Amino acid sequence: MKIFVVGDVVGKPGLQYLQRRLRTLKRQYGADLVIVNGENASGVGITPAQADDIFDAGADVITLGNHVWNKRQIVPYLEENCYILRPANLAPQLPGEGWGVYDAAGWRVLVMNLIGRCEMAFGPDNPFLAVDRILKQNQGQYDVAICEIHAGATSEKIAMGFYLDGRCAAVYGTHTHVQTADERINPKGSGYITDIGMTGPIWSVLGVKPEQSIAMFRGDLTEYFQTAEGECALGGAVFTIDPASGICEQVERIWDREQ
Ligand code: FE2
Repeated sequence: MKIFVVGDVVGKPGLQYLQRRLRTLKRQYGADLVIVNGENASGVGITPAQADDIFDAGADVITLGNHVWNKRQIVPYLEENCYILRPANLAPQLPGEGWGVYDAAGWRVLVMNLIGRCEMAFGPDNPFLAVDRILKQNQGQYDVAICEIHAGATSEKIAMGFYLDGRCAAVYGTHTHVQTADERINPKGSGYITDIGMTGPIWSVLGVKPEQSIAMFRGDLTEYFQTAEGECALGGAVFTIDPASGICEQVERIWDREQ
């Protein structure tokens, strides 16, 4: 079984690149399930129309992160559509779900979306304890478990990789928008990568126009951040998993840059 995960789609350029390339890549890698992080589709946040566009581009599941509530019109969509996830360890009264079980090649795949706590200012619940609860709650209901940890600190993501080693087939990070070169299979068989990177403009600071980011760091008067333009790339990873054992056989880092 091949699970293709795609890093944070940033703004209109990121979305258009996804629309141009995802179906080809999906075919090329023989993906059985495609999970796309969409929390930056609006720059910050995602609208229902953008979520529809990501599904139309070939995503099976959309995950989100700290910007989940920036476009409030997504709230009813989160409640109606079980294929879009927001971090599971947010306050329990909030709308939407943080995990779901989906069919892929006839197997039941549990996908979990977690958010880290380091440098995330809005006090999410402990993701380590939350993931234990989700796995326990779903015991016997899935064949393969996948966990996305949307977090800033590499330490928190690496620790999660070891914590879930042998319990999840794949653990991967999103949020920093910078792909890490540490893809590997952990000792007990979980595929792991600290961050899969972003999908959007290459000549940008995490998707934002460089001059605007520089102005902010210089302490100049700044405008509302805009997504950069020009050449794009798609960051992601493909996990090859033996669904019978729930063990990962191969992790391939994807950096697709249109020539
Ligand atoms: Fe984020």
